[in-house]
Amino acid sequence: MLVAGGTVVDQGGSRRADVLVKGEVVAEVGEGRALRAPAGADVLDASGCVVAPGLVDLHAHLREPGAEEAESIETGARAAALGGYTAVVAMPNTSPPADSAAVVRQVLQLAKGASCDVRPAGTITLGREGRVLSPMAELAALGVTLFTDDGTGVQDPGLMRRAMEYASVLGGVIADHCEDAYLVGAGVVNEGAVSSALGLPGRPAVAEEVMVLRDLALARLTGARLHLLHLSAAASVAAVRAATASGVQVTAEATPHHLALTQEWLAGYSTAFKVNPPLRTSADMMALRQGLSDGTIDVIATDHAPHPPEAKETSMCEAAPGMVGLETALAVSMTVLLDPPGSLSSPGRDNEAGQEHWTGLPLERLLAAMSWLPAKIAGLSALHGGPVAPGAPANLCVVDPARKWVVRPEKLASRSHNTPFAGQELTGKVRHTLLAGEPVVVAEEAQR
Ligand code: DOR
Repeated sequence: MLVAGGTVVDQGGSRRADVLVKGEVVAEVGEGRALRAPAGADVLDASGCVVAPGLVDLHAHLREPGAEEAESIETGARAAALGGYTAVVAMPNTSPPADSAAVVRQVLQLAKGASCDVRPAGTITLGREGRVLSPMAELAALGVTLFTDDGTGVQDPGLMRRAMEYASVLGGVIADHCEDAYLVGAGVVNEGAVSSALGLPGRPAVAEEVMVLRDLALARLTGARLHLLHLSAAASVAAVRAATASGVQVTAEATPHHLALTQEWLAGYSTAFKVNPPLRTSADMMALRQGLSDGTIDVIATDHAPHPPEAKETSMCEAAPGMVGLETALAVSMTVLLDPPGSLSSPGRDNEAGQEHWTGLPLERLLAAMSWLPAKIAGLSALHGGPVAPGAPANLCVVDPARKWVVRPEKLASRSHNTPFAGQELTGKVRHTLLAGEPVVVAEEAQR
């Protein structure tokens, strides 16, 4: 198969190059010259497109086993492939949770033949109850590299310390959902002007900050590798910046929704914007972007959180938190973060405050945050995110950076359609995705 006419962008930079794929690997990269398609080879048109290593998501809720009405591994992986991903880490807050070898094996089994590589994360504690550690060594033996109770934070600092000690012995990473449950209380949206105006209980930014600070201190003590999930608050970014400077082994992620949206979007009481941690102020959003720009935040991860209509179409207090993201993550990120930055149609002035100072990221930095850095954190670099070079596994995405499209929830491949970006025009669309040399997404499907 020949991927013809594109510009390859990877860790080595950017160059005009055709890419010849044979079997599961890249056979030849023709820099600055057209390669001839061998007899019988298919040609994938990449003209005007970026050809990059496939994206890697550290944070996707695929809901199987147990909540297949929301998503399955098959539908989630399909959504991922359409979004340009060749690998996703499946979060363990399933039912039952991935706190045993049996469930991890089940996920691995279900993932066979999926449209992308699905890697199960394991829980930190049994049942995600925060009381007893999971059999982390057994999970690691099955290839689990990320341990997380995502959905809630581990409230007991002594237990978290032990988890970090075990994770470092096992060569794993603690992927940390940072929210102090006592400070969160019954809060459902960011605590501040918007929660007051809407008459809704607030979830303060300090609930995230205190657990970030606690776990940075524990990571310093234990030497563990800590990955901070879905950061949302400016104070958390500042804490990570200081810890990184002092040598703590920490990586951090932000989601496209926290990088693109603020609490003002909740003004219409739409539960599509309810998520944990909540959308916060424009100052928080801009601090996340700044963190991404200076490397304090390493990764953009989706926190793809599908929910069926009955879980979302209720009051703000009752509605399930979370939003789907696999099919929109790259386009939202390209639209609002790239240089020159574009914008979303937005609900109010506060959402834009500070954005005039945003100069935008280079495409290479964006792809680093969505492909090779997350691959490295999850220990997947041998297969994903690698340079596009002869002999490398052909896990690739081909993206048209100029293509504009409008998000239509009903067209998403995910079984759930709870997107906050419904009706938004985005710039940047995946044209093809190749998984181990197989074109799992080809132009027609990507243009739906
Ligand atoms: O909004 C969220 N939804 N945040 C999480 O941490 C979990 C996720 C879910 O599983 O629905």
